[in-house]
Order: sequence, then C-alpha cells, then structure tokens
Amino acid sequence: MLKQSHAISEELIEWRRDFHQHPEIGFELHRTSKIVAEELERMGYRVRRGVGKTGVVAEIGEGGKVVAIRADMDALPILEQNEYEYASKTPGAMHACGHDAHTAMALGAALLLSKEKLPGRVRFLFQPCEETTDEENKSGAQRMLAEGAMDGVDYVIAQHVDPAQPVGTIGINAGPCSGGVDNWYGVITGKGGHGAHPDQTIDPFHLLAHVILGLNGIVSRRINPFEPAVVSIGLVNGGFTENVIPDHVNLSGTLRYANPDIHEPLREEIRRAFDIAKTMGGDYELRFEYGGPPMVNDKTVSDVIEATAREMLGSEKVHEIEKTLGAEDFGVFLDLAPGAMFTLGTQKRGHEEYKLHHPKFDLDERALPIGTAMLAETAKRFLGRE
Ligand code: NI
Repeated sequence: MLKQSHAISEELIEWRRDFHQHPEIGFELHRTSKIVAEELERMGYRVRRGVGKTGVVAEIGEGGKVVAIRADMDALPILEQNEYEYASKTPGAMHACGHDAHTAMALGAALLLSKEKLPGRVRFLFQPCEETTDEENKSGAQRMLAEGAMDGVDYVIAQHVDPAQPVGTIGINAGPCSGGVDNWYGVITGKGGHGAHPDQTIDPFHLLAHVILGLNGIVSRRINPFEPAVVSIGLVNGGFTENVIPDHVNLSGTLRYANPDIHEPLREEIRRAFDIAKTMGGDYELRFEYGGPPMVNDKTVSDVIEATAREMLGSEKVHEIEKTLGAEDFGVFLDLAPGAMFTLGTQKRGHEEYKLHHPKFDLDERALPIGTAMLAETAKRFLGRE
C-alpha cells in the first residue's frame, strides 16, 4: 500500500493545496464537499451528499463487514501568516489544524481502495464542523450521526496530523487520548450600591473571589489524583465604573476529563464552588453546555493500527500518542462502534514551534502518502478479519 500510495503523491499534494487555498469554516463547506463528492463518484463510490448539512458519506464494496474512515474537512477562523503560493486565499480562514491534509489523505485512501477487491465494505465519512458547533450546540459528528452515517459500521478509524513528531512516525495507543468537554456559564448575583458604602451592598466581586478559590481547588483537592481533569476560567466580567458596586458578575469557563466517571463529579464540585456565593448572602445561576465525550481508543482496533504501522514503517517509528485534554469530536463516533484515531508525524522544518491552530502552522507533505497508506491498509486488514 505504501508503494501505491507514493505513486499518487502528486494527486495528494494537489488536493491538499487546493483545500488549503480555499479553506471553509464550520458547516459552510460547500466548495470542499462538492469536490470531495465529485472525486468519490469518479472513483466509483456510492455517494450521499448533504449528510449532517455539508458532510459526505461514500461507500464501496458489497456485504461483509463495514469499516468506516472518518476525515474532518473544516478550517479555522484564523488569518494565515504563511506566504507560500498555496497559502489561504480567504482572509480570516485557514487550515491551521491539518484538516486539508486529512481530507486529501482520505481521498487518497478511497482511490487506493477503489482499485482493490474488497471482502466487505469501506465507508468514508467526510465531516464538516469538527472545530465548533452550530446554533443548537451540535458538532459535525453529531449532525452526521443523527442522519445515520454510522449505521451498520463495525469499526471506525481516523487520523490527525501531529506537527511535533517527525515524518514517517505514527502515534497510537489504546485508552483515552483527548478530553471530554463542557463549557460552563455562571452569573454571581449580590446587591449593588455605592462604592463608599460596601456594608449596604452584597459585593459580587467579593463573592467572586471566594468562588474562584473554590473552583481552583477542585482538581487538586476533590478529584482522584490519578484521574486527569481540568477546571479553567476563561471569562470574568462585571461592573461599570470605579465607585459603583454592581449587582452581578459573569464567570465562565471550561471543564475537561479523560474518564467519563469524572464528568458528573466535576459538575457537582463546580456547583458547590458557586454555592459559596449563597453562603455569603448572594446567589448564582450556572449552566453547563455539553461539548462531547473523551476520545477513548479501542484496544483491538489500536492493536491492528499499531501492527500495521510497525510492519509498514518499522517498530522504531511507532510511539504513544501525546495525551491531551484538548477536544476531538471523533469521540462521538467511538460511542457507536469500536475504533481508534492515530496521529501522523508531519513536522516541517522551520515550523517546529508552530503548533496546531497557529497562524504559521504548516505540515511536511511527505507525510501524505504515509497517512494515506495507513488508512487504506488498516481498513483492508479489518475487512479480512473473521
Ligand atoms: Ni483538528
């Protein structure tokens, strides 16, 4: 597969650069998904367009098992600071998370698999809106699942570029690899008044100070030290001027966890921290917005990916994924079928310090045939399993 994959290098680069020049954000992937659908039809796939707004689902083969390959297609609202000729042509939109490469490599895998005699079916899930959610707080994955994209799938795999690892390496392991997420939105209310008479008010800033201390003690004092968790504050605002104590302040943030059992306890502890405002004579409102589950790689699927990578690239090129409580909505797919995501080393010289989502992020295109071959070969191996 690696050889065949190298033979289509030029196409992979062409696709990737085309998507890179024309980044689209969120669910507004009209150009990208049109190209993806047309390419897949040309390769002989049965294509469903408009799945989960602008997603594309394409299947090939008959009977047997169904292996799904998921690729996210959306860009970010970032002004690109790279200056090469295939840099973004849309100011304020940029493929700074490598989803242009994910899309190109999945197309490459589709092309390679279209030439194989398959003992089952391969289904490609080209997904919009991985990075954010729509007005109803649904991500692209959730929208596609609601329209049956995962029905009948036995295994699901995906990859993500990793700019911290050299080209030719693969990261894979079983277990949690990214965080489950909630955003939380709080309002602490007291009683406003003149800054010269704090005794006649219930100062919401004073309440706020104590709530913040409570929040910052949750992970260190209330959560099992062997369980990764985060409670971060991202927004505080309130007040009008120097000599007026306002009647409320806003306090919002995020919570993260690797083990789903920690999810509810984190919410409970955040409520308890806000309760301090009540104890001190104030009140609060608090709302949680579910952002998605942690991404937990299945052991069997991870083992197959790992074996494939070792044989294709050599054992020394396979490492564990660097764990993060960053969010990846592939976890939503893993709730429905065993699966795993691996990482693809794409480090580019001169861009080492520019991480995912940086306006100077870039990747080494020599990694494209490797990611393509990994997807195609792993899918083939699953179809060959009893
Ligand atoms: Ni990404």
